[in-house]
Amino acid sequence: MKIIHTIAEMQAASDVFRIEGKRIAFVPTMGFLHQGHLSLMEKGREKADILIASIFVNPAQFGPNEDLDTYPRAMESDLEKCKEVGVDIVFTPTNDQIYPQGYETYVELEKLPHHLCGLSRPVFFKGITTVVTKLFHIVKPHIAIFGEKDFQQLAIIKRMVRDLNMEVEVLGGALVREEDGLAMSSRNAYLTDDQRKEGLRLFQSLCKAKEMVQAGESNPKAICDMAKIHISKAHEAQIDYISICDPDTLNEVDAITGPTLMALAVMMGKTRLIDNMVLIP
Ligand code: PAF
Repeated sequence: MKIIHTIAEMQAASDVFRIEGKRIAFVPTMGFLHQGHLSLMEKGREKADILIASIFVNPAQFGPNEDLDTYPRAMESDLEKCKEVGVDIVFTPTNDQIYPQGYETYVELEKLPHHLCGLSRPVFFKGITTVVTKLFHIVKPHIAIFGEKDFQQLAIIKRMVRDLNMEVEVLGGALVREEDGLAMSSRNAYLTDDQRKEGLRLFQSLCKAKEMVQAGESNPKAICDMAKIHISKAHEAQIDYISICDPDTLNEVDAITGPTLMALAVMMGKTRLIDNMVLIP
């Protein structure tokens, strides 16, 4: 496994793979890898000749009061994990490589970011679409894989790729849960034992919501109320949003009839947890 730190070297390596007719799969990450990331890499391994992962904690997607400085980092063990899963190249640029002095170009969508996480994290998706665009130009993948846990991110990247005619096939990878159902996330490392236990209320609410829909409930308010009550029982929980929405537009639905997604974000103490489930595919 090769580790590349510079944009020029990464672009040159990808050019060679492309000239040789090899297909490149790419999994961008911010590191502190868990099974959720590794499952995306396994998917990439199956789908292409060359698997490239990036590890870069992207400052542009953190707001001024967010956890950029404390975001968990574990480069050594991340590299071990990448090697085990069969990554060919890990691209780990510095901030200065990605955002050199004088940097001023951003990529922004008009609608999809103004829902769910984008409402309380105004710079988040602009930072993501910008860095992903840059990474696509640097890594030059044929396929890129993003986790369905970050459902809104995946929807936004797919929209951006369509809108800007980027020649990258974007695939989703299934959300991976701990044995008890907590959605895997690098930020779970911040949770105390109590918060970790209370964090299960998100998954429990989603499961209950699905049961309600399967039993014939079509009123989103009834389901949101159930989730609100269940999650609020955790004394450190502050609900950011509970949304029952159209999975394509992310607009909230008035009735659960067609394809429907339920998405949640909750601050558990200082840690932001998100989760989602498709209620009707
Ligand atoms: O999902 C993530 O880890 C990040 O948002 C991404 C896609 C690597 C961009 O920084």
